[in-house]
Parts: sequence; C-alpha cells; structure tokens
Amino acid sequence: MERISLPIRPRRNRKSQAIRALVAETKLSVDDLIMPLFLIEGDNQRVAVESMPEIDRLSCDLIVEEVCALDSLGIKAVALFPSLPESIKDREATESKNSKGLLQITIKAIKEAVPQMCVITDVAMDPYSSDGHDGLVEGGEILNDATLPILADMAVAQARAGADIVAPSDMMDGRIGYIREELDEAGFENVGILAYSAKYCSAFYGPFRDALDSAPKAGDKKTYQMDPANVDEAVREVELDIDEGADIVMVKPALSYLDVIAAVRSSVDVPVAAYNVSGEYAMICAAAERGWVEKETAMMEMLLSIKRAGADIILTYFAKEAAKLLQR
Ligand code: PBG
Repeated sequence: MERISLPIRPRRNRKSQAIRALVAETKLSVDDLIMPLFLIEGDNQRVAVESMPEIDRLSCDLIVEEVCALDSLGIKAVALFPSLPESIKDREATESKNSKGLLQITIKAIKEAVPQMCVITDVAMDPYSSDGHDGLVEGGEILNDATLPILADMAVAQARAGADIVAPSDMMDGRIGYIREELDEAGFENVGILAYSAKYCSAFYGPFRDALDSAPKAGDKKTYQMDPANVDEAVREVELDIDEGADIVMVKPALSYLDVIAAVRSSVDVPVAAYNVSGEYAMICAAAERGWVEKETAMMEMLLSIKRAGADIILTYFAKEAAKLLQR
C-alpha cells in the first residue's frame, strides 16, 4: 500500500473509547434529567399506559416509592401530571385548586418522604377540564384573560402543597406575569416558574393524552399552541416569558424542534429545558419492540442530540432508564 501523508486525520481522535471520551463535546448527566410521573387516585394502584411501555399511572403511595427509587439513581427532579376521573372534571377546572386533591396530596407526600427531590407541577386546565382544553372554553373559543385567574389559583394551590417549581404549559398570553404576581402575593416568592414558552401544536402528545384521558372534546389546540412552521416566534415567546418572570424556559417537543432549542439557547441567558414528549418516547419503544432500533443506544443518542442542540435540562420518560445507564 502506498504511504499517503495526510497531516490532518480526524479519525485519530476517534480511535479509542478513551480518546473519544476525552474529546466529546457534549456530555449527558443525570443532573440534566427530569422524570415525568402520572398520578391516579387510590391505594396501591398501578395502571399501565398502553401507548407508553413501562410507564404506569401510580397512586400516591406507589409514587412515593418510585420517587425514592429515582432519588437513589441520582435523579433530582420529577414533573407530576394527575389523571383524574371524568366525574371530577368541570368547565372551570375547579378540582385544580382543591387542597386535598390528588396532585396536592401527592406533592405533600413526596416532599415529606424525599424532601430533597425537586417537585415540578403542571399548570394548565386540561387534566381538570371537562372540555379537555388548557384554557376556559366559551362557545368553542378558548378564552385567554378569563383563564389567567384559574391558572394562578392552580399554581398557588400547588405551591401551598409544597411544589418547588410550577410549570405553566397552557400557552395563554400573559400567564407567566400573572402567575408570578399571584405567587408573590400569596408569599411564594421562592417558588420558581418553568415556562413552557415555545410549546408547539404537535401530534407527538398523543400517548400523553391517552395517559391522562385529556384530549380536547372538540376542536384542536391551534389557537394557543404554536404553529410548527415557526422559529422566530419561539424566540419572541421565550423573551416575553423571561420579561414576565420565567426562571427557566422550555421548548416542546424536542426532537422535531432541535433547531428551535438551538435558536432559543443562542438568544437568551436563562436555563433552557426541552420536553422529550410522549410520542417521541413511544416511537423509540415501538421500533425497539420490533427489533428495528436498539433501544438503549437510540435512547441515549436522542437525549444527547437534545443536549447538543442546547438544552440544559431534559424532561424525558427515559430519565430512569438513562440514569441507570449513566451510573455504569
Ligand atoms: C397539557 C400538557 C400536554 C403535555 C404536557 N402538558 C399535552 C397537551 O398540551 O395536549 C404533553 C407531554 C407529552 O406528550 O409527553 N397542558
């Protein structure tokens, strides 16, 4: 073989695992991960989510056990989503401010058992709404300003129960500022806000809506969630939320929106989160089940890509599995 002199050979930096680790530009850590959890009423209840293998809805006692397990894997934050019976839902999401409601009771139980766990709660009407929308519905329209006090009451109830961070996912205009003011007024100035700032109207939320039985009864979410065509608008949404008091901003979903994560990361100086949503989880699981992709490798590659795009924090249903791998 003829000797060729090539001064620059990028493959030299790939020749062993040791060198690859030294030069890796992006590193995933368990500190980056938030595990979403689905709650149900009752005792010792575990109900599988059909479209999300290995993800169950758990009653409060089992959630506490799960949070202990996550804590011992090094996971530092969980995001809670209550799945409620239809009979409890109404137009005004009244149940969302019940101090003895499922979410509030579960927050308390977690903070008692594992006080160091950061508890993040979702602020939006859909799990509590008989209309299945994130805002108040009147004559088929999703009302913006009339929704704000409902969201603020919900956030204050969650803070009162012990939530560390509230996470408005509703996409109503002005809700971050409104919630910030109400939290402060109620004495919760130390409760943070993780704003779902750039939340797109996405087909990838399907399995989540199965889990919570929270799909809209009529219409879609296009008048409040963002158009997948837009990226400049995402930056505008994020800037507005920061001005209104968001501590962390989020892009959601993650995979089809890596460019949005990158654009947001380069234009703001607050922490940026990304939500690796239910449909993204389901896709990997379904393909892996058929032997079409190798699950662990695909999962880690996907999480790494979200981090590489610029996310500091990743909400992912893979958090527990990834934490186990990262421990090795
Ligand atoms: C509801 C909410 C949704 C998700 C998080 N909060 C669904 C929706 O907007 O319809 C989706 C999360 C996921 O798909 O994993 N406000």
